[in-house]
Amino acid sequence: MQSLPALLDARVRDVTGVDPEMRPATKPQFGHFQSNVALRLAKQEGRPPREVAASIVEKLDVSDLCEPLEIAGPGFINFRIRADVLAHSATALLEDPNRGLNRSEQPQRVVIDYSAPNVAKQMHVGHLRSTIIGDCFHRVLKALGHEVIPQNHIGDWGRQFGMLVEQILDEDLDPSTLDLASAEALYQRANAHLKADEEFATRSRDRVVKLQAGDDETLRIWQQLIDVSLAGFNATYDRMNVLLTNEHLAGESTYNDDLPRVCDDLESRGIAVVDDGALVVFVPGFNAPAIIRNQRGGYGYATTDLAAIRRRVGELDADRIIYVVGAPQTFHFEQVFAVARMAGYLPEGVTAEHVGFGQVLGADGKKFSTREGTAVSLNVLLDMAEAEAAPNVALAAIKYADLSSGLQKDYTFDAERMVQTTGDTGPYLQYAHARVCQILRRAEAEGYGYGAVTVLDEPAEQTLALLLSRFGEIVDEVAVTLQPHKLCGYLYDLAGALAHFYEVCPVLKSEGEVRSSRLALCAATKLVLGTGLDLLGIDAPERM
Ligand code: ARG
Repeated sequence: MQSLPALLDARVRDVTGVDPEMRPATKPQFGHFQSNVALRLAKQEGRPPREVAASIVEKLDVSDLCEPLEIAGPGFINFRIRADVLAHSATALLEDPNRGLNRSEQPQRVVIDYSAPNVAKQMHVGHLRSTIIGDCFHRVLKALGHEVIPQNHIGDWGRQFGMLVEQILDEDLDPSTLDLASAEALYQRANAHLKADEEFATRSRDRVVKLQAGDDETLRIWQQLIDVSLAGFNATYDRMNVLLTNEHLAGESTYNDDLPRVCDDLESRGIAVVDDGALVVFVPGFNAPAIIRNQRGGYGYATTDLAAIRRRVGELDADRIIYVVGAPQTFHFEQVFAVARMAGYLPEGVTAEHVGFGQVLGADGKKFSTREGTAVSLNVLLDMAEAEAAPNVALAAIKYADLSSGLQKDYTFDAERMVQTTGDTGPYLQYAHARVCQILRRAEAEGYGYGAVTVLDEPAEQTLALLLSRFGEIVDEVAVTLQPHKLCGYLYDLAGALAHFYEVCPVLKSEGEVRSSRLALCAATKLVLGTGLDLLGIDAPERM
């Protein structure tokens, strides 16, 4: 659905040829929106502003949307949307099978690379953010009719497996008895061992060669490490109520066979060159080349990502690829995208976007870490929030805190604040939803029916209806800009407008058509709050 403000904006733009810079009116008597476009044009043209305003008003035909326009003060134009238009739009929302969302006319195939934890390590706060943010994009794009292909690029390959396997053999451990925490402890023992013992280090290197050569025993232990890790990841995904499943797994090892091919391809076409024994790509504008095969013949993180792009475009047929990975990897992705463009793996019609995000800070404002200085595991964060509130509320608190400020910003993990049902929090929105559900339940119990929104005399009702009409446009914006805080801010405003509406407009205590219209407005608001929360991956409870 087209939002009423957007519709109006476009009309004024047509007549004036410039951005009307519509602002919400500061007082109800000024209508709903105000534009200073006449003042700006008057300055340019050297004419009296009120005269310019009058000529704009004369040319502008918005009588199907607005009350007669007013010119105020030095030459502002005031717009008041007609109550019947607002009512009609709220009713249309209530009847819309798409819940106010604009299904895309050109559905795309969108790969979203998110979560991506590493085998034999617990998920940490970076993976928490990636999982929450990526899942929100997943929900938003899917709801708009795009084909979403999640790819969980887990770290399941690399030199670390040499020492892990050796340590397991040294300790005579049965890897299937491990869980993620004990696998991580094993990782740390192996690492310490590696540093202290030259002979172990040599064996670990040899073990990497065996793994790469497909040695049976080595592969078996490697696979067991993956299995125990996946069990841990999946338990966390369940806990987080995200859409990721095993079906979306495409770990680094998936691309093993492609790595030499990518190198050969790039070398044979002269895109990659041997430099100091390594195969590298010099990318214009980057101060260091991308290393795709090191001096010892090993392939790295960048090579794997090039192979992944090639498949995502070639086999998965992606039109858009979104990477949700922490901001420290910005350089890596910019360089990989540039190489992929040079090589034609990323053709012009396909977009690749890295959505970086900031860190999670502790209450002390410093990077969140344990007393020992290691990264805090994701489950510990979930535990902390659950110590303050019920699981679905705790989760709402975390997800909302993660999504509601600009993604690039760091945010402070303050469990006590995040679970409050007042202020700009997830639980506040859940509460707003539960409260409107309660009113509708009571109305039903009293036998009060409702159908359409018909009466919208009060400014508080009109504000609510106006906001409701903007829902589709806000979600479209998130799909394009990948900025979920826009949706969070919108829902927060909507919950605020709803609270104000209750204050000044009795619902159950009103009568007749006013009551049924208010109930319908409540139902439309419930619909938008519920849908919006769902797009954020937050449960919208009917009771709280
Ligand atoms: N496993 C990596 C990490 O924990 C993230 C992988 C992100 N995705 C990618 N295609 N590189 O940092």
